[in-house]
Amino acid sequence: MDSTQSIREHYEKYPYPSRDIVSCKSLKNYCGWVLSVFNESSQSFLEGKSILEAGCGTGEFSCSLALNGANVKAFDLSASSVKRANQLKKNFSVKNVSFSQQDIFSFTPLKKYDIVFSLGVLHHTPQPKKAFSLLANCVKENGFICVGVYNRFGRLKQRIRKSIVGQMSRDSESKINHAETLFHSGSSFRGRHWLADKYSVPIESYHSVSSCLSWLSSSGFSFVGSKPEISSFPLLSELSWLFSGQGSFFTFCGKKLAQGE
Ligand SMILES: C[S@@+](CC[C@H](N)C(=O)[O-])C[C@H]1O[C@@H](n2cnc3c(N)ncnc32)[C@H](O)[C@@H]1O
Repeated sequence: MDSTQSIREHYEKYPYPSRDIVSCKSLKNYCGWVLSVFNESSQSFLEGKSILEAGCGTGEFSCSLALNGANVKAFDLSASSVKRANQLKKNFSVKNVSFSQQDIFSFTPLKKYDIVFSLGVLHHTPQPKKAFSLLANCVKENGFICVGVYNRFGRLKQRIRKSIVGQMSRDSESKINHAETLFHSGSSFRGRHWLADKYSVPIESYHSVSSCLSWLSSSGFSFVGSKPEISSFPLLSELSWLFSGQGSFFTFCGKKLAQGE
């Protein structure tokens, strides 16, 4: 089985994030955390923007963007995730969002977008850098790309936990059971789909801040912001995440420079 097929099979069985959204208000607020990555504080920033989300999972983030006035096209490799995303859209009567099943590596954009998001996806692909450059090509001049990937240092504690669970069992259900018993018993975790995403995804890679910044510059983007924030010495920031518990998931944003800039 090739790597993309094994990833698809994982997310067919455990569509992510499968959040239990209880109200339209909470769905609208779902994407609010990402604004700081753009150095924006008002959700009105999203109004009227054309947005592509690559690897949208079960659609919470895309629906949230659309409820904040964006026009969103979203796709995912997993059919069961897309089905849930369409159900969520229906449940909350979300307009201006469409979902389809597609692979980043064969996606052909019919237009360019103001913003392209891909959160928690590229580190599950066989070629994260290539996937980044394909998505970067979908952004308009002066538009933005916003990507979240596992950080090589910030993720270390979770990598060790995943590796312990991986030594104890081979199949996903047992991994989830072991992870729950060893590391999450009594705590309020988000359920089996969340545990599956943390402990049994067959492919994941880990990235340095400097490689993320080089993806941006090599595709003609300037750095805008990130979560967690980084200092002028990215390596020091990353090292501090080893101890602070931050940076397990590093989200960064770049602005596409106009020709000649
Ligand atoms: C951890 S989930 C993230 C979902 C969502 N972006 C979020 O942040 O909640 C990763 C998603 O990436 C999708 N994915 C992985 N490889 C992909 C590819 N080559 N093309 C499209 N989607 C992909 C998976 O199907 C899965 O839904």
